[in-house]
Amino acid sequence: MSQQKTNLLDVRAALKQGIHLLREASVPSDTLAAELLLLHVTRRDRTWLYAHPEELLDPQTIESYFTLLRRRAAGEPTQHLTGKQEFWGLEFEVTPDVLIPRPETEHLIEVALDRLAVRELRAGREPKLTGEGLTIVDIGTGSGCIAIALAKELPGAEIYATDISSAALAVAQRNATRLGFQSRIAFLKSDLFLAFSSSSHQSPVTNHQSPSSSPLPTRHSPLLFDLIISNPPYIGRKETSTLPIEVRDHEPASALYGGEEGYELYGLLIPQAALHLKPGGLLVLELGHDSLPAVSPLLETSQWTNVYVTNDLAAIPRVISAERT
Ligand SMILES: C[S@@+](CC[C@H](N)C(=O)[O-])C[C@H]1O[C@@H](n2cnc3c(N)ncnc32)[C@H](O)[C@@H]1O
Repeated sequence: MSQQKTNLLDVRAALKQGIHLLREASVPSDTLAAELLLLHVTRRDRTWLYAHPEELLDPQTIESYFTLLRRRAAGEPTQHLTGKQEFWGLEFEVTPDVLIPRPETEHLIEVALDRLAVRELRAGREPKLTGEGLTIVDIGTGSGCIAIALAKELPGAEIYATDISSAALAVAQRNATRLGFQSRIAFLKSDLFLAFSSSSHQSPVTNHQSPSSSPLPTRHSPLLFDLIISNPPYIGRKETSTLPIEVRDHEPASALYGGEEGYELYGLLIPQAALHLKPGGLLVLELGHDSLPAVSPLLETSQWTNVYVTNDLAAIPRVISAERT
């Protein structure tokens, strides 16, 4: 980096040089990434950025900014450099231990809330949902984004969140605590539904230091759910070489790969979900871009009814949802 860059940059020039550096490295969304990194090092918001284009930046800030730009140009995701990602209007801490929450996963929350409301209507009740009386589990919670978004929308629901990764659960718990939902969600380390099987006596790895202060019961087995929701790993190992470097080299393999083909975990998750749902309970799953042909036959059994597929904004089948008979 030249002396001129470190000593004399104003906001506009810093942004321009940042975008240029990222564009040269073929970083996608270069303008947004440069903006986010500049906002991060200046600890300002976007309004300030564009209202003060001529404000001079101090050399230390410029140094930090160019260090982050170079790391971004070398492939580190912007969210790992800023440590955060927005999901469902909430700010989540992200680290290399968790999948960075994706915007398309918000469709899962929308489908779940819509289908729960329809169930209320069918039962002749007001479709206004509080979650009262509902027991929900998010399988493979990662950053906790799905469980926490549901806790926000359904203040009366009893919510569980599992992950096979202890490191991911630690991030999810920090997110729940920082966002004020720690008493609403019980976090458990579990391979799919193992912690809820009748032979398992696993204790929750919850945020609740004092179980008596928790609104959630301490029982975990046997437990039947009204809603099982999951964004499981669904990329095929055979696709590894086609993944962007940001994903392949920086996001956890346990969050990405569902097996050699990608759809293998659905073959375990769906039959187990059938055993853990109440009659009329809902299963809502995220799909990979090519998962549908492998996943929909798994729901063509007498255990499932009212199977729907929802496309994302790019017209890709993104959510499959079904009701337990
Ligand atoms: C695609 S990520 C989804 C994370 C988060 N729910 C989201 O939507 O951003 C899948 C998550 O499932 C977890 N996982 C993988 N295999 C699992 C298993 N057998 N049982 C429970 N969790 C698993 C991974 O550790 C990872 O956190």
